[in-house]
This record gives sequence, C-alpha cells and structure tokens, in this order.
Amino acid sequence: MTEQRTLTLKMIAAGAAALVFTAAAAQEAAAPEAVSEQEVAKALTDMSIIPAGKRSFVKCQACHMVGENFQRRAGPPLNGVVGRAAGKNEEFRYSPGMNTVAAEGLVWTVENLDAYLKAPREVVPGTTMGFAGIPKAEERAALIAYLASFKEDGSRVEGATE
Ligand code: HEC
Repeated sequence: MTEQRTLTLKMIAAGAAALVFTAAAAQEAAAPEAVSEQEVAKALTDMSIIPAGKRSFVKCQACHMVGENFQRRAGPPLNGVVGRAAGKNEEFRYSPGMNTVAAEGLVWTVENLDAYLKAPREVVPGTTMGFAGIPKAEERAALIAYLASFKEDGSRVEGATE
C-alpha cells in the first residue's frame, strides 16, 4: 500500500518534470526573435571593424550573398543572419545536419556564429558548408560585424558605410 503510493508520487513528479522540460523547450523555440537585436548590437559594438569584415567576406562570396538583389548561391543569403535561428531561409535546402541543430533550437548568436566560422563541422555535424574555417578570432569578429550590418531586407544598419 505504502509502496504503491510512493510509486504514484514518483509518477506525478516525473510528469511535472516533463512539463517543466516542455515549457523550457517552448521558451527556447520562441527565443530567436528575442535575441536578435541584442546580438546585432553586440556584434556592432565596434563599427570600425566592418571594412575588415568586408574584405574577409571575399572568402564567403562564392557561396553567399549579402545586400540588396541577393540570391541563393551554393549557400543561403546571409542578410539578417546574426541573432536569427539557424537554418531558416525558406528557399534553401539545408543539410540534415543543419536541420537537426535548427530543430534543437540553435540560434546564430555572436558566440555560435564565431564557433561555426572557426570550425563549421564542430558546431553543425554533417554540415554541407564546404569551408575549413577561419582560425583568427579578430577576423571572425570583423566578419560577424560585417554580417550584422545587413538587415533582413539587405539594407544596411545606420552608420555602416562600407
Ligand atoms: C563552398 C561554399 C561555401 C563557402 C565558401 C561558405 N559557405 Fe557558409 N554555407 C554554405 C552552405 C552550403 C551552407 C548550408 C549548410 C548546411 O545546410 O549544412 C552554409 C551555411 C552558412 C551559415 C548558416 C546560414 C543559415 O541560414 O543558418 C552561415 C552563417 C554561413 N554559412 C556563413 C559563412 C561565412 C561567413 C562564410 C565565409 C567565411 C561562409 N559561410 C563560406 C556554403 C558555403
């Protein structure tokens, strides 16, 4: 009798834990919009590094476009990517690896982008982005600032001249 009651209590506790977990997952899924502006601001704390980022973007250009009149190349356009959830360009077919991390709620925060640009396959196992990575931290920071200066529609944030 006592044993049975303990069991029932345990089951209730497990149910409650599952509910808490679901609520946390739902909150995480809702996070992308919330982080966006904050992450863009973080990436743009020093706008003077944008030109260096533009020079570095030469390495990405074969596969990615930014700015107005953008199109899909081998990779998706990257306007507005900083602070956005991963794998969300509707016209692009991502790899199963990217879809997996996207389903898990990966957001392109400055930190996650930095890690992806350093070692793409470590952040997104099975990614089809054929790019070895950028070893230098300053170069990645400049590149992320350059990307952050493009809004979703391809226009630039105020103050981005290059
Ligand atoms: C050889 C082509 C190629 C090059 C070069 C390349 N990428 Fe990619 N990139 C891709 C592909 C393909 C994907 C989609 C990957 C997937 O689905 O796994 C991608 C995905 C991305 C994503 C995720 C986009 C999203 O919508 O979630 C970012 C950010 C990104 N690339 C940034 C860069 C940057 C910055 C550079 C230059 C340093 C670069 N890439 C160089 C092909 C490339």
